[in-house]
Amino acid sequence: HQEKTKVKNIQVIEMGQFEMDTWYYSPYPEPYSQQNKLYICEFTLKYFAKEKTLLRHMAKNTLKHPPVFEVDGSKHKIYCQNLCLLAKLFLDHKTLYYDVDPFLFYVLCERDDEGFHVVGYFSKEKHSSENYNLACILTLPPHQRKGYGRFLIAFSYELSRKEGRSGTPERPLSDLGMVSYRSYWTRAILEALRGNRHLMSVREISDETGIRTDDVIKTMDFLHLIRYWKGDHILCVGPKVIQEHLDNLAHQKTIFIDTFRLHWTPYT
Ligand code: COA
Ligand code: NA
Repeated sequence: HQEKTKVKNIQVIEMGQFEMDTWYYSPYPEPYSQQNKLYICEFTLKYFAKEKTLLRHMAKNTLKHPPVFEVDGSKHKIYCQNLCLLAKLFLDHKTLYYDVDPFLFYVLCERDDEGFHVVGYFSKEKHSSENYNLACILTLPPHQRKGYGRFLIAFSYELSRKEGRSGTPERPLSDLGMVSYRSYWTRAILEALRGNRHLMSVREISDETGIRTDDVIKTMDFLHLIRYWKGDHILCVGPKVIQEHLDNLAHQKTIFIDTFRLHWTPYT
């Protein structure tokens, strides 16, 4: 069930090198929820009211990266709860904060000599009856518009492909979630078409990209590139049109995923 978002409580957070203005309310426990500003350890995601206490925590704590990069909600409960509380500061509505057991969290980091700095993540249900391949996605504001959102979305589809099925993100999508997905779907579908005979059925595109058929249809409809023919949706677009569309996307920042290096077995 969707709770109507409450009035924003915490106005600003300091984390690693960054100070970030928050966007929405997040249910941090008392007395932290009453603070104007929170200090967050970028490695453990623990939160503090005073900088002094954060520094004391960081001096004691030698962990310089997330517990692992695929984090199991039932094994690293506090870390995952802290991640969800942090994410809620930038999400309008979201239902999950404390019940993290059924989820896996994929944490994306920038790496330097100091350690691994969290820049974003997505969560995924261990077992989704609706074939959702992503529950929640976030790129922290200082790192947005660098292609990380697209990378995380692409990664979620790679996991679906490893599972041998198509997937779709949990609804509702935020406005930023929707533009990011539409951008990802457009690019992935056009590239599939270019790499093939330019004449593919929706089913074939779905099989190749892992994008669920109704998302394929919606995207192609949005681009005016779909025909309905003999009871099936057919995308019949010439190589020129596809190349024109792809040229329009040439500005996009894309981080390549080397799928041969992705060793992953579906959760059982
Ligand atoms: N305005 C317009 N378009 C935007 C946008 C913005 N502020 N942010 C992203 N996009 C679109 C663009 O089309 C972009 O492609 P481009 O290269 O053609 O410009 C595409 O999304 C992907 O951008 P990318 O840099 O990979 O995304 P990101 O790292 O900024 O992350 C979100 C995207 C959605 C994860 C990020 O905005 C976010 O964390 N938002 C807050 C949380 C949220 O709403 N999550 C989704 C819940 S369903
Ligand atoms: Na949302």
